[in-house]
Amino acid sequence: MLQNNLDNKSRPLLLTIFGGTGDLSKRKLLPALYHLAADNKLPDELHMLFIGRKPMDNEGYRQYGIEAVHEYSRTDVDEEKLLAFSQKLFYHQMEFISEPESYIGLEKLLSGIQEGFDKPSIRIFFLAVGPEYFSTVVQSLHDKGLADKGNLDHRVMVEKPFGSDLDSARELNKTISEALDEKQVYRIDHYLGKEMIRNIMAIRFANSLFEPLWNHNYVDNIQITSVETLGVEGRGPYYEHSGILKDMLQNHLLQMLALITMEPPVDLMPESVRDEKVKALRSLRSFSDANSCGGIVQGQYGQGVKNDTKMPAYREEEGVDENSATPTFVALKAQVDNFRWGGVPIYIRSGKRLERSRTQIVIEFKRLPGINYYKEFESQPPNLLVIEVQPAEGMYFRINLKRPGNDFNIGSVALNYAQHSQFSGNVPEAYEQLLLEAYRANSSLFTRWDELEYSWRFIEGIQKNCQATPEQFPNYEAGSRGPEASDLMIKQDGRKWWEIDLDCEGPDCIMV
Ligand code: BG6
Repeated sequence: MLQNNLDNKSRPLLLTIFGGTGDLSKRKLLPALYHLAADNKLPDELHMLFIGRKPMDNEGYRQYGIEAVHEYSRTDVDEEKLLAFSQKLFYHQMEFISEPESYIGLEKLLSGIQEGFDKPSIRIFFLAVGPEYFSTVVQSLHDKGLADKGNLDHRVMVEKPFGSDLDSARELNKTISEALDEKQVYRIDHYLGKEMIRNIMAIRFANSLFEPLWNHNYVDNIQITSVETLGVEGRGPYYEHSGILKDMLQNHLLQMLALITMEPPVDLMPESVRDEKVKALRSLRSFSDANSCGGIVQGQYGQGVKNDTKMPAYREEEGVDENSATPTFVALKAQVDNFRWGGVPIYIRSGKRLERSRTQIVIEFKRLPGINYYKEFESQPPNLLVIEVQPAEGMYFRINLKRPGNDFNIGSVALNYAQHSQFSGNVPEAYEQLLLEAYRANSSLFTRWDELEYSWRFIEGIQKNCQATPEQFPNYEAGSRGPEASDLMIKQDGRKWWEIDLDCEGPDCIMV
């Protein structure tokens, strides 16, 4: 991983964002850029050009940016800094899909801006537009000379989803690779920008306690959970095509799995890390025939009630088919078939409209065999290492010891690390990190094409062999724990889903 590249900080940044008036710009990109600018992480020579189809002038956009930052900033806003930031926002109206010739005007505009800089700038094009437009924009950037193939100062950031299945992802990649080198493409998986996900490598490789145990000899199973209370939030038409498999599993969940299971890379340079992630994803056993589908549960939420308010079923959401077979929940048992992980189940769970929002990775260690000969230790619970990505950011290690008192009874306690209470300062949002790393040319937080290819293969196996049908759904209530079958699946293996609360403190944390 590249460290702060101070040389790079002196290079001017010319950031062009397609989709300037869209949801992503408003909720994520503008606040992220404001924080980076306020923290002095961006160069003085900075020009942020937002492109959209709506008519608006620079002043109008600055006002829009100020409002977006007020609404979505993760901290109190420093008005002086916000005003200074807003002066670097520019807007350009353009029909960037239907009028390829409009890129000629854009090229002139960017060249004019470049003339105002002392040094050649880093040019980043951020595609905050629908995935159906990625190819057209990239091709036009190339054809009209805005992004030169092989020039590593010309970078394109692409949002997910990258393709809608293996074939379309390959097709999209083919078009992009005709226009750009792989090293110019920064494919976003915003989970890779999250603090605790970036922490996985530190936890694994900076602790002599864990790495020797990180294998099938000591780990009983791994659980990766990313669940949320939110529904599809007005994104029905998108979600109908995507569902939980493409919206969460193909990217965020499999990226977490890759980081947890990969071998130690030869160094921390982006390509070395990505090489190891690819190997882990290649070793994932696929759902290769209908017989393998016992290891997967899919679900879709029906109506539910929360705080006396009725929540609609997925099929009642706008833009959703009334007989939709799109899953909004998945739980599965994955296997990474290599020497390190052979035989260790990796349970993955993700869903919308559940009882709570949480992203958590649990490593459950094997129980000591001999200990069961002692009656007092019979109920010895397993050691657990929990990495909580959100909402709390932290780590928890559950160990066993003697309960206080005259009798010799075993209990479990949590060694708890809550990031916010030990490191002061606000934690940057994922997009801040991603924008910064793209500027620094650190691609380790972005997915390389072959990582995507193997994760799409995994999803394809599920879709071909374990496709859900409309009759199966709905099978869980909005606001619940998800389908019962998910609990049964893990129970059949003699295990359970761990639900660990990191904010547990005091004597009540003796859990057994
Ligand atoms: C996005 C999905 O990639 O991730 C959304 O499209 C999902 O459906 C979101 O809600 C979850 O991200 P986070 O950062 O809120 O966990």
